[in-house]
Amino acid sequence: MERENFGSKIGAVLAAAGSAVGLGNVWRFPIETGQNGGAAFIIIYVLCIILLGLPIMISEFLIGRHTHANTAGAFRIISNGSPWKWVGRMGVFTGWFILCYYVVVGAWTMHYTFLSAINAFYDVPAKQYEDVFNNFVSNPWLPTFWLFLFIGVIHYVITRGVRSGIEKSAKLMMPTLFIITIFLAVCSVSLPGASLGIEFLLKPDWSKVNSTTILDAMGQAFYSLSLAMGCLCTYASYFDKKTPLAKSAVNVAFIDTLIAIMAGFIIFPSVFNIGMNPNEVGVGAGLTFVSLPNVFQQALGNGSFLAVIFSSLFYFLLFVAALTSAISLHEVATAYVTEEFKMSRRNGATLVTVSILVLGTLCSLSFGPLSDVKLFDRNIFSLFDDLSGRVLLPLGGMLISIFAGWVLDRQLYREEISNGGDLRTPYFKVLIFALRYIAPLAIGLVFLDQIGVFNLIPH
Ligand code: TRP
Repeated sequence: MERENFGSKIGAVLAAAGSAVGLGNVWRFPIETGQNGGAAFIIIYVLCIILLGLPIMISEFLIGRHTHANTAGAFRIISNGSPWKWVGRMGVFTGWFILCYYVVVGAWTMHYTFLSAINAFYDVPAKQYEDVFNNFVSNPWLPTFWLFLFIGVIHYVITRGVRSGIEKSAKLMMPTLFIITIFLAVCSVSLPGASLGIEFLLKPDWSKVNSTTILDAMGQAFYSLSLAMGCLCTYASYFDKKTPLAKSAVNVAFIDTLIAIMAGFIIFPSVFNIGMNPNEVGVGAGLTFVSLPNVFQQALGNGSFLAVIFSSLFYFLLFVAALTSAISLHEVATAYVTEEFKMSRRNGATLVTVSILVLGTLCSLSFGPLSDVKLFDRNIFSLFDDLSGRVLLPLGGMLISIFAGWVLDRQLYREEISNGGDLRTPYFKVLIFALRYIAPLAIGLVFLDQIGVFNLIPH
């Protein structure tokens, strides 16, 4: 069967950027930045992107493009069937695992877009936003309805194929996302009191930087760039021979970081405008679905036209960001089952979709009817979230960097990143050094931190 390719370089970069730009950019990065020393954190974050993120991203691109196979197949081919092939299989598994809970949040963004658009937040007292959210997520039907719709959209795009599904949708959605982000940031920045918010986000405060900050920055860089789960490897398997790997990686990392910083310009000026303490807004779901709806209503005028437009666009932005990331995760699994088990794309995609419908529903119901089902003191949703983000992600990243730095043939590496000698690669030595020494060590530390080893040491 003929394997599809992306039709253009820009399409390839936008698709990969679509994978990278996701919920992490909006609901974690701005808060982490504000609380960890503003510009000081951004500088550390960018260093992590350069020293760890880019080398691993380039390696994933390389493995995917060289083999033109799904992630499990790619690692099997490139490792000549040695035990390193398990790294690929693990990536596929983890990507699928992330997808199961990621779609739940994607569904919430749809519901909140809808609520914003019908002006449902008009006159909701500040204290009741938490109830609004809790009542929604614990409802057995409503989140499930949106979940099925969200997964339905992913399924539609995936079955259209690489070029007319993934690439075409990325070319439409990424510019849309960019325009909405700029519009919202400009609106927020022009609110009275916005400068305090900008100061909170950008003023460098090195006194807040400690070892935990650095570990956080590394973890965030990893998650945000969609590394170690086969996403970029799978997408790169659709790159053609002329796509410049290093340059594409730099573009993807740049777009991802830019959107993350701009998300901070959307959030903090509004938070400061209403005189709220940024340390109380929370992170993740609490920030996005409890604090922000309230912040937007108050900053832009309760029930006003502007508030409706602003918050509808904000949740729609989150929806688009989550959707493109979810599509990339779905593609990892779809490419895997289609190629490894020789199925048609339609059947492979359907199999993956059915599996995430089932597991996604379980994750979703763990906020309501299934909230008592617990393992290691976590509900099903947190279990999926923690296991993939804290354990499998850093482990995968570490193994990929070791594999790329120590095992992979140097000559092959050079051939690929120079596109067979066409491109100059003055950064080659630095890249290999980062892969061999810096990345495995740094990610090893993140891993130990994430599984809580450092908390056992008294300090
Ligand atoms: N990068 C996305 C975000 O910022 C999430 C994501 C998509 C992801 N694919 C991934 C994270 C693969 C880790 C690995 O929300």
